[in-house]
Amino acid sequence: MASIRDYMFDTAFLDQSIDYLAETLHLAVTVIDSEGVSVVSRQIEGHDDLVSRTYPFRFPSDIGGIICAAPSQNLLSQAEPHILYCIASLNSQLLRETELQETTDEMLQLSSQLNFLFKVAKKIIGIDDLRKCYQIILDEICKTIKADQGFIHTKGRWDDEIRVTRLMTDQEIDSTRKSICLKRAPTSSTIICTREDGVSLLYSPIKEKDGQTGQMVFVRALPHRPFSASEKQLVGIIENIISPTFETLRLYDSLQDLYLNTVKALAAAIDAKDEYTHGHSFRVAKYAQAIGEQLGIENQQLNDLEIAGYMHDLGKIGISELILGKPGKLTHEEFCLIQKHPVFTDKILQPIKLPPHILEGATQHHERMDGTGYPCGLQGTGISLFGRIIAVADVFDALTSKRPYRDALPVEEALKTLCEGIDSLFDREMILAFFSALLSDHNKEVLSDINMGLRYDNIQNLNQFLIELTEFAMTTDRH
Ligand SMILES: [Fe+2]
Repeated sequence: MASIRDYMFDTAFLDQSIDYLAETLHLAVTVIDSEGVSVVSRQIEGHDDLVSRTYPFRFPSDIGGIICAAPSQNLLSQAEPHILYCIASLNSQLLRETELQETTDEMLQLSSQLNFLFKVAKKIIGIDDLRKCYQIILDEICKTIKADQGFIHTKGRWDDEIRVTRLMTDQEIDSTRKSICLKRAPTSSTIICTREDGVSLLYSPIKEKDGQTGQMVFVRALPHRPFSASEKQLVGIIENIISPTFETLRLYDSLQDLYLNTVKALAAAIDAKDEYTHGHSFRVAKYAQAIGEQLGIENQQLNDLEIAGYMHDLGKIGISELILGKPGKLTHEEFCLIQKHPVFTDKILQPIKLPPHILEGATQHHERMDGTGYPCGLQGTGISLFGRIIAVADVFDALTSKRPYRDALPVEEALKTLCEGIDSLFDREMILAFFSALLSDHNKEVLSDINMGLRYDNIQNLNQFLIELTEFAMTTDRH
């Protein structure tokens, strides 16, 4: 049941029209709703037998009309131009008010969309991690459209698959992807569909210049209502606006890889200068990463630690191969020159705007806990975390690699040497982290992949040896 009063904000003209028709033209007037029920009625006293006619309102849906009645057909016909004028005026008022309502609704919707985008933009500013960015956007959209679950599936660095989920298991994702809508030919626009089990899905493709690169899927489980057209529209708009951000982040991700590969190539060039240190920077980077993982360093920082590891001997590029590979004892001057390589590293890296922790890691790996290291003689936690990690990784690789003046030491002996340097040379926490990295089977495999040539006194007893050494490292007091 709908009546004109439901759609008219200002009913003054309607009331005036009824007064005019009833009082000036002496008509009986009844306003009816869509079901013919009287909403307003004005009768003529003393007349029972009236001639009447219905004048419906012109509106997209049925909202009733006005029934006018007069004592004779002649009187009604004379009044008709006035009646039609009133009806036409009411119709045009209805049209204007409907347009106004639609514009208001659009404005409200636009303002809520802008509000959402502003909120998301604020959260993703400065985030250069593609996965984190996807997670924020997924969470925000889910909250806004009240989705129970959702996932984003796309490609990341070197076309690796990235899957970001919200309250969804892998099995649920697989079954959602197999359901009706996603089995259809790839669609280029946001759609709503219902799964066979009645669950509502909202699917939005992620589009970039090269075409569709991924998808966002939102799920609303029963008994909640299915997604609505306005929610679909909102997700469609968001997708259009954030797609360029995704594209930029993907490019940035690839650029980071390019940067890392350049650093690796540079490290390989340095390692190649000295046949005895071949592969040293690569191994140090990997050992450092294994230590970092044990310390619970998060992903992005682990990448930075890896880069610092690759770069740690960059300054050796400025030192002659004759000194670096000299089989005999170094002269005092030669030793002083080698000790300068962290300073050269700093000079090479300064012009590139690297995060400070990478630079510190690369230039502080010869600093020692008691201040006897070089180039600055830093002490304790005055040495950066990355510097303390790389120091351990660097010495372990140096000890387990062949040198012009000695053979490679067995792993056990190298670890004992590290243990002897606890607190005086190396940070105890870093040594313990390295031991627990070696104790985990996964890392042991990784470590032997890093250096196939690692020698052991007795690999079968390595775990027992590591446990004993760890206990020793935890209890020993070097002060
Ligand atoms: Fe070094």
